[in-house]
Amino acid sequence: MADNEPIQPYDTYGADDSAQPRGVSNPESEPSPRIFSAPRLPEDATVRPRSLSEFIGQEKLRKKLRIYIDAARGRGEPLDHILFYGPPGLGKTTLAGIIAQEMGGQLRTTTGPALERAGDLAAIVSNVERNDVLFIDEIHRMPAQVEEILYPAMEDFMLHIVVGKGPLAKTIGLTLPRFTLCGATTRLGLLTSPLRARFGITEQLDLYEAGELAHIALRAAEVLNVRMSEEAALQIASRARGTPRVVLRLLRRVRDVAAVQGSGDVDAEIAVRAMDMLDIDAQGLDEGDRRILRTIIELFDGGPVGLGTIAAALNEDAQTIEDIYEPYLIQKGLLERTPRGRRATSGAYAYLGKAAPSELQFRDGLRLPFEED
Ligand SMILES: Nc1ncnc2c1ncn2[C@@H]1O[C@H](COP(=O)(O)OP(=O)(O)O)[C@@H](O)[C@H]1O
Ligand SMILES: [Mg+2]
Repeated sequence: MADNEPIQPYDTYGADDSAQPRGVSNPESEPSPRIFSAPRLPEDATVRPRSLSEFIGQEKLRKKLRIYIDAARGRGEPLDHILFYGPPGLGKTTLAGIIAQEMGGQLRTTTGPALERAGDLAAIVSNVERNDVLFIDEIHRMPAQVEEILYPAMEDFMLHIVVGKGPLAKTIGLTLPRFTLCGATTRLGLLTSPLRARFGITEQLDLYEAGELAHIALRAAEVLNVRMSEEAALQIASRARGTPRVVLRLLRRVRDVAAVQGSGDVDAEIAVRAMDMLDIDAQGLDEGDRRILRTIIELFDGGPVGLGTIAAALNEDAQTIEDIYEPYLIQKGLLERTPRGRRATSGAYAYLGKAAPSELQFRDGLRLPFEED
């Protein structure tokens, strides 16, 4: 049924409550010296954190959320509408689920592109209850006519629906329960300003530190019932592009290699061997990253070169390059965004074993703060 389709009960929350008793995977509990596991959990148990205290990293954001949530609860009110932005795989969807859980509401999820007509949104919004979190992923891809009916829903908790057609059409207003809209986007710049203005809270998610990612890897291994050493977790973390989703993906592949080529336990050697097989090097760069750097250096003299040109040369989607590859290349100091396009740094030349042009060595060696951007 079309009117039910966009609403998906949040499948990784609640259903497996019995499988994951509270506290079992509490990251605050001390891990045993080198290797630990939690044999009580079934293989398919979720690794998604369900409460703010299970959410690892993003310290500042977590502290702020704790305050906002506690304050809203103290007033007996739903949380303000909240917008998360940042590269994929950093925990935006996870946080929406955590907020719903903490506020005692349900999470209802949809995506910007799934809301094709105003009616699609009306169908979802008219079903929300007080304290529910309506999560709209990729909110920058929501059509304008849908966005317009979202404004009064966010501001006044009113839904204006047009009934009938032609001269007999009339608009009826429906009062909605106070819910929290949680939007997520990888492209904050593509949101219209009226939409941005209607979020009381706007927060950015940053790439994670290796230590945080190692912690996430250990916790996930525990949930997946894999015995893994801390060194192995650090190896995985250092190659995970600052991204929890990548940690989890690598962990699964490492686990496969451990099962087939080892005893099933994951030590650093197995982890490195598995990641070598995936062509991920010690810096965490894969063939896709290397192609981008090589293209900029070999075809465009190191840049600056426009994103669209790079994408065309690589026959790759520009948004994929911008969202998936660039944040990590920039964090690694291998790539710079400039007003005239992307530029390889002297670090990128060194990484590829090439000699950097002398003016680049000079510039990168003597970088002044105001030269950024
Ligand atoms: N801070 C975190 N701690 C533990 N696991 C995390 C954290 N952030 C994300 N994850 C895991 O990484 C995966 C991707 O997170 P998700 O919320 O889907 O990212 P996004 O919505 O930003 O693309 C999820 O499976 C989640 O379990
Ligand atoms: Mg998501």
